[in-house]
Amino acid sequence: MSDIQDALILGIETSCDETAAAVIRGGRHILSNVVASQEEIHRKYGGVFPEIASRQHVVTIMPVIEEAMQQAGIHYGDLAGIAVTYGPGLAGSLLVGVNVAKGLAFSQGLPLIGINHLEGHIYSNWIRGARPAQPGHGAEQDPEFPLLCLIVSGGHTELILMHDHGEYQRLGQTLDDAAGEAFDKVGRLLGVGYPGGPAIQRAAQGGDPALFAFPRAWLPNTFDFSFSGLKTAVRRVVEQGNVLAGRAGGYTRTASGPGRKTPDQVDSSTIADIAASFQEAVTDVLSRKTAKAAEQYQVRYVLLAGGVAANLSLRQHLAERVPCPVRFPPLWLCTDNGTMIASAGYFHWMKGEFSGWDLDVVPSLTLI
Ligand code: KG4
Ligand code: ZN
Repeated sequence: MSDIQDALILGIETSCDETAAAVIRGGRHILSNVVASQEEIHRKYGGVFPEIASRQHVVTIMPVIEEAMQQAGIHYGDLAGIAVTYGPGLAGSLLVGVNVAKGLAFSQGLPLIGINHLEGHIYSNWIRGARPAQPGHGAEQDPEFPLLCLIVSGGHTELILMHDHGEYQRLGQTLDDAAGEAFDKVGRLLGVGYPGGPAIQRAAQGGDPALFAFPRAWLPNTFDFSFSGLKTAVRRVVEQGNVLAGRAGGYTRTASGPGRKTPDQVDSSTIADIAASFQEAVTDVLSRKTAKAAEQYQVRYVLLAGGVAANLSLRQHLAERVPCPVRFPPLWLCTDNGTMIASAGYFHWMKGEFSGWDLDVVPSLTLI
């Protein structure tokens, strides 16, 4: 190992249904990034099947790590440390990554660095290739503190104020469903496919985002969020088959008589309108509350992280409304991967923050 700036970290991620490993140089530069997705396997269940996920991780973890090392063109002896997600996530899935990381680190005499999955998502914004939403704030420079990070994934919706590396203050969070969870549930309701987020974004193309006036939970004077009422409102529209009433002005009106449609008769243009209106309701609340927090706390950057950071409507609304530069990872780094774990691992490694050999998984781990 040479310079601190060139330190190589192997990142391992198995918290959910992606088996992932990557090698990062200096916390920012990708040498390799290997992700084995189990999406196809879980698709028929309409969600992640935990037992199957952990068994699949056992099968794929070593080939994925070996490929990451090979693509990076390095040996274990070249590494400065091994970072691994130890929570939050599915216990059985996390265990596979943590045990393999421990075994490798111990046998190679390398530091083990346990990483919070949410922290990993945040650090995907330090990886080179992350594009800014506005010109003049190049992706070749690090985000500056204080900054605000909106973490939006399948399990989390949190607004985090960061004063420095590793210094987090939670300003708000969801009181019920996570944003990604809402996308997934509504995706199921509309029958557009799994996972719901990208499927709804696709289905919403050409739809009218203002057609259905779905409710927004503003929760005034807080930076908290709530999406369960919105999901219920979409369900009401779909289940009551009153989509024609929606077209006539308002999701609450119920049509009756011969003009009324049943859910299986809902045509694709109506699905597009519902999907677009739902997506607008979610991204409207997320972006306005984030913009308000950015103003109130006078931050220098806003970072977007987590699977829902891939949503183009959210990116666009944030870029329009936030009064400072907005950063988001490139689409391929928004969902779970090993580079973000390796990057977060590097910043802990820099401070000499290592885990003991008794590192255990913490399925409900929080950031703060
Ligand atoms: O961060 P992630 O890969 O896994 C978790 O840690 O949860 O996020 C997955 C979530 C899923 O709920 C998925 O539907 C959502 O991210 N997602 C999206 C988009 N792409 C993925 N949601 C909205 N729009 C997208 N384009
Ligand atoms: Zn994630």
